Parts: sequence; C-alpha cells; structure tokens
Amino acid sequence: MTAASSGREAFGTRAGFILAAAGSAVGLGNMWRFSYQASEGGGAAFVLVYIAMTLALGIPLMLAEFGLGRRGQLGPIGTLRKLGGRAWGPVGYLFVAVGLLILAYYSVIAGWTVRYGIEAVAGGFARSAGDHFGAVASGGDAVAYHVAFMIATTLIVIGGVKGGIERASLLLMPMLFVIVIGLAIWAATLPGAAVGYRVYLQPEPSELMSPAVWRAAASQAFFSLSLGMGAMLTFASYLRRDQNLPESATIVAFTDFGVAFVAGLLVFPVIYSLGLQDAVSASTVGALFIALPSAFEAMGTVGRVVGLFFFIVLAVGALTSAISLLEVVTASVMDEFGMRRRTAALVMGTVITLLGVLPAMDTDALGLMDKIAGEFLLLAGALALALLAGWRIPSEVRAELLEGASPFWQRQVPRIVAVLRFLVPPIVAIVLFFSLRETIAAVSAYLAG
Ligand code: TRP
Repeated sequence: MTAASSGREAFGTRAGFILAAAGSAVGLGNMWRFSYQASEGGGAAFVLVYIAMTLALGIPLMLAEFGLGRRGQLGPIGTLRKLGGRAWGPVGYLFVAVGLLILAYYSVIAGWTVRYGIEAVAGGFARSAGDHFGAVASGGDAVAYHVAFMIATTLIVIGGVKGGIERASLLLMPMLFVIVIGLAIWAATLPGAAVGYRVYLQPEPSELMSPAVWRAAASQAFFSLSLGMGAMLTFASYLRRDQNLPESATIVAFTDFGVAFVAGLLVFPVIYSLGLQDAVSASTVGALFIALPSAFEAMGTVGRVVGLFFFIVLAVGALTSAISLLEVVTASVMDEFGMRRRTAALVMGTVITLLGVLPAMDTDALGLMDKIAGEFLLLAGALALALLAGWRIPSEVRAELLEGASPFWQRQVPRIVAVLRFLVPPIVAIVLFFSLRETIAAVSAYLAG
C-alpha cells in the first residue's frame, strides 16, 4: 500500500474513485455542447464518430493519465518531472495554468445555472428569454453567482480527497443520474418528441467522412472526458495499486457518453415540441439558457418543476467538474510549495475567482478563453501526455496498467500502449493544427473588437 505508507491522501472506495472521475467528466460539456454538436454535425453520424473517438483516443488517453498519476503519486507538475525528467516540469506548469483558465470561465457558466435554478422557484423563468439572458449573462449578478459557486467548490476541495471530493461524488452523482433519466422519460411523453429525436439523431451518412465533424468530435471527446490537463492524472495519484485501471477508464467513458446522450433525449423533444429551434442555432449557449427556459415557462407549473430539476442537474454536474479542476491546481501547489491543503485551496480558489471576473463581465472573453484553454491547450496537453506515456516511458506505463488489472484487461494493455504510440499522436497533431488556425482567428477577431 504505497499510497497509504507515503502519507498521501487516498480514495476510500473503488466506487468513490470512479464516481469522482465520472463527476469530473460529466458536466456542462455533456448537457449542451454534445447535443448542439450532434444536431450540427449530422446527428447519428456525429454520435458514431464521437463514440469512435472516445474508444480510439479518449480511453487510451485517460489510461495514460491514470497510469502516470498512480505511478507518480503527485499532481501533474511533480509527476511529469519525476517520470519524464526535468524538462517535463514546465508541461506540468502549463497544465496547472490551463486548469486555472478553464475553471475561471466554467464557474461563470455554472453561476448562470444556479441563477436559473433559483428563478425556477422564485417567480418562474423570464418570458423574453433572449433579452433576459443578455441582461444577466455578464455584469454584477454574473460576478456574484460566480463567486458563490467558487466558494462552494473551494469548500469541498478543502474537505480533502476522502472527506470532500469522494463524499460529494458519492452523494451527487447517483442523484444526477436519477434526475437525468427521469427527465428524459418525461420528455418522451411530449407531443413533439418524435420530431425532436429525428432532428437530434437524423443520420446523415455524408457527414461521416467530414473532417469538420471529426475535429469537432475529437475535441468534444477530450473536453467531455476531462483529458489533457492532468485532472484524471491527479485523481489517479490518490489510488492504491489494486485498482483495475483499464476497466475503470472504460466505465467512466461510457458513463460520460451515456449522460450526454440521454441529455440530448431531453433537450431536443422539449425544444421541438414548442417550436423553439431558432433560439438554438442563435448561439451555442442558446439552447440551454434561452430556448429551454422559455419552453419550460410556456409549460406552466410542470415546466417550472422540470426546469428546476434540469438546472439542478446542470449545477451539480458543473460542481463535480469544478472540484476536479481546482484539485489539480491545489494538489500541485501542495506538492511544490509544501503548503497545507486548506491554504493552497483558499489561495488558488481566490486567484481563480478574481480571474473569473473578466469572463463574468464580458461574454466574448468567455468564449475566447474556452477556445484557447478548453480546446487548443487541452489538445496540446493531450499530445504531450501521449508522447510521454507512449514514447518516453512506455514500459513504465505498461507495468503500471497491468498492476491490479484482471486477466482480460491485462491482455488489452499492450494494445492500449500501441495506440498511445502510433494512433493518438498523429491524430491529435492534425486536430491541433486546425485548432491553432481557428484559435488565432478567434484571438484576432476578439482584439479587433
Ligand atoms: N469534463 C467537464 C465537462 O464536460 C469539464 C472538465 C472538468 C474538464 N475537468 C476538466 C475539461 C479538465 C477539461 C479538463 O463539463
């Protein structure tokens, strides 16, 4: 029991680790980005490509993070330096910076979900949903909800791996699953359900080979599985050697896909039964914060109850994801500077809260931060992780993945390492190249005002 004897914190149960990792993965990305991309990218064709990307790239990369983290027994900075050599230290610092940036704007969106949840109870959703969203998405209120959300996140992280993160995940994740499934069943009874399903999953086989769809599916898979900045690595550093890592990664990936898919079965029937599709295409957040609230309001009391549960799911999913982002940063500061958990979480939580004031005041800045950190830097981080695990220390990663795995999964380990060597780097490099061009264009558009 290396983990215990080293005095490092550890998860208490297998379910605790799996639900914490699933909690990191399941978040705002599942609820809006997935269904939006599916309807844009050829419906069922997108879903198929997305599943292929999750299996071919997502699970192997998650295993690279799991293997490195459990081997290193430190956060990303310490683990990369220890396993890769001094030159890898800066990559760890980059991961921490990405965590800071993503959480800063993620928390602003999470704040909106809390606000909408409260609106559902207090007086209902606004009638002119578009104007309302425009009025509350940025400004003083947005800052206030962002701060409140960061306080909740910081308090859980202060509680530690077992008393904070694991406890919150064991409580919140089952609740989230039950509500999402319940909402999807309710949505099936709506008059417009069939049309909604059709638009969501309309197979357009021509899109199957479209490079744009592949790019969207790959970056969606990384973001949704929380890969490319050491979140899964950090959680795995709290594991003992008896865990079956390949099986755990597969469970987490399928859970994440399942929630995204079922969320789409709710979102589309609701929007189409009320003919609100135009609000969806208006912006990427349109479906979530404009079309759905107006649909809920139009349904009267039932709509408000359903809407309340919907925004509870969003806020809960966002909270368990935010925890993992703050934990990466906190763990690294604890390792590097020998700080106590409480101090590290408070200091870094405050830094992120301040950083989040910018996206809370300016939605264009929010979108830009998502492009830079949530897409481009995650892809760069995923490439670095695949190179470290697949080329720099493949035999150590192989040995780590074998440890604790059942015979069936042990047989898959050589394949997984081969995928990390030969398949993941070239595909991620291509996607990274396209993403770089888009990111540069987005930055210059923002600077030009
Ligand atoms: N996966 C989360 C979502 O889908 C977001 C998230 C949490 C994340 N931690 C991450 C994304 C780490 C990238 C890296 O909403």
